[in-house]
Amino acid sequence: MATAGGADSRRAAVRVAVFPLPFQGHISPMLQLAGALRSRGLAVTVLHTEFNAPDPARHPGLDFVSVPDAIPETVAANGIAKILALNAAMEASGHVRGTLASLMAAAAKGEPRRLACLVIDSTLTAAQKAAAGLGLPTLVLHTGSAACFRLFRSYDMLHDKGYLPSTESNLDMPIEELPPLLVRDLFDPSKLPNKEIGQMILNLATETTTNSSGAILNTFEDLEPHELRMIREELAPKGIPPFAVGPLHKLVASTNGGDTSLLDQDRGCIEWLDAQAPGSVLYVSFGSVVHVTKDEFTEVAWGLANSGKPFLWVVRRGLVLGVEKQELPDGFESAMEGRGKVIEWAPQQEVLAHPAVGGFWTHNGWNSTLESIYEGVPMLSRPVFGDQLATGRYVADTWKIGVLLEGVLERGEIEKAISRLMDENAGVEIRGRAKELKEKVRMCLESSGSSQQAVDKLVDHILSL
Ligand code: UDX
Repeated sequence: MATAGGADSRRAAVRVAVFPLPFQGHISPMLQLAGALRSRGLAVTVLHTEFNAPDPARHPGLDFVSVPDAIPETVAANGIAKILALNAAMEASGHVRGTLASLMAAAAKGEPRRLACLVIDSTLTAAQKAAAGLGLPTLVLHTGSAACFRLFRSYDMLHDKGYLPSTESNLDMPIEELPPLLVRDLFDPSKLPNKEIGQMILNLATETTTNSSGAILNTFEDLEPHELRMIREELAPKGIPPFAVGPLHKLVASTNGGDTSLLDQDRGCIEWLDAQAPGSVLYVSFGSVVHVTKDEFTEVAWGLANSGKPFLWVVRRGLVLGVEKQELPDGFESAMEGRGKVIEWAPQQEVLAHPAVGGFWTHNGWNSTLESIYEGVPMLSRPVFGDQLATGRYVADTWKIGVLLEGVLERGEIEKAISRLMDENAGVEIRGRAKELKEKVRMCLESSGSSQQAVDKLVDHILSL
């Protein structure tokens, strides 16, 4: 049997390279995973684009290498197509291959650590091909839920069984194979201006997983036991081990998720929260990429103002389609009567941990959802696209820790949904379940908990590659 000292020296001989997709919701979990591998004794080199480059000074334990494959300006503004453009640029330039080759050559020239593998974001097919060309194994980080991992692998079935393309009349049809999802929760490529691109994006994660030596999922056993069991059953015959290591932002207790925000966070809001009653504030944020129309923005503003509840609202630059800095509607400031605070970017994890926060109106990006679950904050779910739609359904129907706001955004409906979540009596059961889940997530992060054990297994697996 290997001794602890033996394990330490094996870890000290290994380096891992990681390559996130260069967007906030993908960079954060990859850097958090890198921190967890570092804390287990592996060295980690973060490959990144110049576009949305992370700040190395904030991650002293990690090494950084910039790969000169900036996403072309014209493409950066053009929705999901930018993922395909980034892959095409990487493949054409050969820079990723060159970077990996020099990391591998360093070991041959006497660097004490060998490069064992590349961990890629599940969309980065080009990086995987570059690694494969050098004989370097890849592991794939999935930054969404296990449910979405399964869903994105089920599109052939969804078409074969006639759920897709969706029609006006089948939106409320339950998907028997993937409960609790309804057809309306699917990301339907046929509704996009270019459905071929939509389908290609959906296929990326399946392709990278199939060609990988392991799948890393930012979720935990007690949250998605059925989904993880199904994933294990599906991947086992293919020899691809899955590792449920989430929530990544709390895996290394001492780092508190790391400082992974690409934008400056306005910490002044914490002082404002300090002055609010416990559990009274609705925190409102739609993440880093979702847009709303100007009309929707106006409805959100008046829904919040009319709700009578204190709120902290993140209006990031570019939130409203085509507008760099959106002004608040006339009369809004006086209608708020000092109950609301609007900021451009929040220290979200700190906000959710604040005792004054009693609810989170979220677009259900997976990071935001996990951060809310960790703090036991119930959600007002308004998913917009992609994996968010399925996550919103799970929040409302499976975990029952939130209220789903569906249909056209309208101030009266918003007001009612806020009451259902925040009113003392209405939201009592939802709040109770959110607290129970909070206890479960903390258990999975203890040293003997399922996620810590999964990281240990992941490290052993990396050492074996
Ligand atoms: C995207 C997708 O939308 C999401 O569905 C997918 O699962 C991951 O990538 P994004 O929309 O930005 O991400 O949402 P989310 O996953 O919630 O990530 C946002 C991150 O930004 C969170 O970690 C959150 O803490 C942080 N954030 C958000 C801030 O630090 N400050 C803010 O004001 C708002």
